[in-house]
Amino acid sequence: MKIFLETMGCQMNRLDSELVVSALRAAGHEMVDDSRQAQVVLFNTCSVRRQAENKVYSRLGAEAQRKAAGKQFFVGVLGCMAQREGADLMKKYPVDLVCAPGQLDALPRLIEQAAAGQAAMKLDPSRKEPRDRAADERLEQLDLGRDPAATPSPVQAYVRVSRGCDKFCSYCVVPFVRGGEISRHPANILDETRRLVDAGRSEITLLGQTVNSYRWRPAGEGAMTTFADLLALLSPIAGLRRLRFVTSHPIDFGDDILHAMRDLPNLCRYIHVPAQSGSDAMLRAMNRKYTRAQYDDLADRARAIVPGVVLAGDFIVGFPGETDADHAASQDLIRRSGYKNSFIFKYSPRPGTAAAKTLKDDVPTHVKRARNADLLAVQAEVSLTHHQSCIGQTVEVLVEGPSPRANKQPHRPAAGEVQLIGRTRGDHIVVFDGPPSLTHQYIDVTITGATALTLFAKKGI
Ligand code: SAH
Ligand code: SF4
Ligand code: F3S
Repeated sequence: MKIFLETMGCQMNRLDSELVVSALRAAGHEMVDDSRQAQVVLFNTCSVRRQAENKVYSRLGAEAQRKAAGKQFFVGVLGCMAQREGADLMKKYPVDLVCAPGQLDALPRLIEQAAAGQAAMKLDPSRKEPRDRAADERLEQLDLGRDPAATPSPVQAYVRVSRGCDKFCSYCVVPFVRGGEISRHPANILDETRRLVDAGRSEITLLGQTVNSYRWRPAGEGAMTTFADLLALLSPIAGLRRLRFVTSHPIDFGDDILHAMRDLPNLCRYIHVPAQSGSDAMLRAMNRKYTRAQYDDLADRARAIVPGVVLAGDFIVGFPGETDADHAASQDLIRRSGYKNSFIFKYSPRPGTAAAKTLKDDVPTHVKRARNADLLAVQAEVSLTHHQSCIGQTVEVLVEGPSPRANKQPHRPAAGEVQLIGRTRGDHIVVFDGPPSLTHQYIDVTITGATALTLFAKKGI
């Protein structure tokens, strides 16, 4: 059948979609870019904020109209929202198929069922029910069985190190929709990474909801594998030029990982380690399990142990009870941490989470909006200072391709050249002139200018 798939949400969902596409193609289906051409329209969804879900509802509304107008096709919801809403999705919209993130291996079969007019729904057990070990093993096989040549980029690939999350931050839906945290066998991660690198994927990004909480214990005797051990295991793979990981939780960031970042030459010195707030009262209410002082200490240790380390963060504004003083503490944390960038979100109560159940969403929308704009402005200042400190340096970039937005630089590129976009090891975006043939190559550039979002450069030293 002709299948259209749209992916929302985080890198985990992007990797899931990649595996799903591989599996669907192997089952004889054809992927199409236009949903109007498709016999099956799939959405891989995110539940992390209300806005993410609204986007899906509006897509489903549009598909419902096409169905009402007599078009014949199937609609499927995959991913986090499928797990959160379950059968309700089928009641509210003409959805034919629902598949939770932990059941994606069943998707080809669910499509056959839907096509045969049968109910097609597979959900994960709730966190109160016992873990489904057989489902865990089937998912593991889905990752292991992936086609290393089927990644969207010919040079970059994601590799999952763990699934789920056990942290239960009070605002967050992820532990409910993605289930309990489970680390993959290090031999499987090594095998998968090796095959990707052998297929030319020289930049590997390790994924986990809290990637640095990775720990694998053998069933019997034998030593535990920590995240730092895993990094040391993967780093020597021949042909692996860059090894990255996202996202980190502050409480599991020991010096062993910082030492790995200092010592392993291909491990990129970039840490996305969300703070969420700079205020102890908010951190406690968010169940983040660290204090402001502990976060500051992590940033200090990172800068002391890993020269040139680049930090990035996430913040939530307008969490229940957040005062002006709490907000000021977040401003202060952004300034103190010197982040390259941070993602700022307005608090959105998620059904089923501790915060939604026990705390009133009492910060008015206009205050959330103002605080959001304010943290963005503070971060823009900090980002500009950080980027300006890079001017004059010669750095390696991996060229991603021509810049989607022309004329970022005030001049026109020379004949045969275009504005290219590349990424440094520290995840900076760099714009420079060069021939399109440099796409997917590693080259050295010298930084000549900076804005809050972008570095400008020229080729060579
Ligand atoms: N596992 C990652 C990412 C979680 S979701 C981590 O722990 O870092 C990505 C970001 O969304 C979070 O860091 C948080 O800043 C934000 N977020 C999560 N739940 C939210 C909610 N209910 N309202 C607003 N922002 C939220
Ligand atoms: Fe959500 Fe917290 Fe887990 Fe991140 S660590 S996924 S914010 S519960
Ligand atoms: Fe969203 Fe699920 Fe990722 S809720 S952020 S797609 S884990």
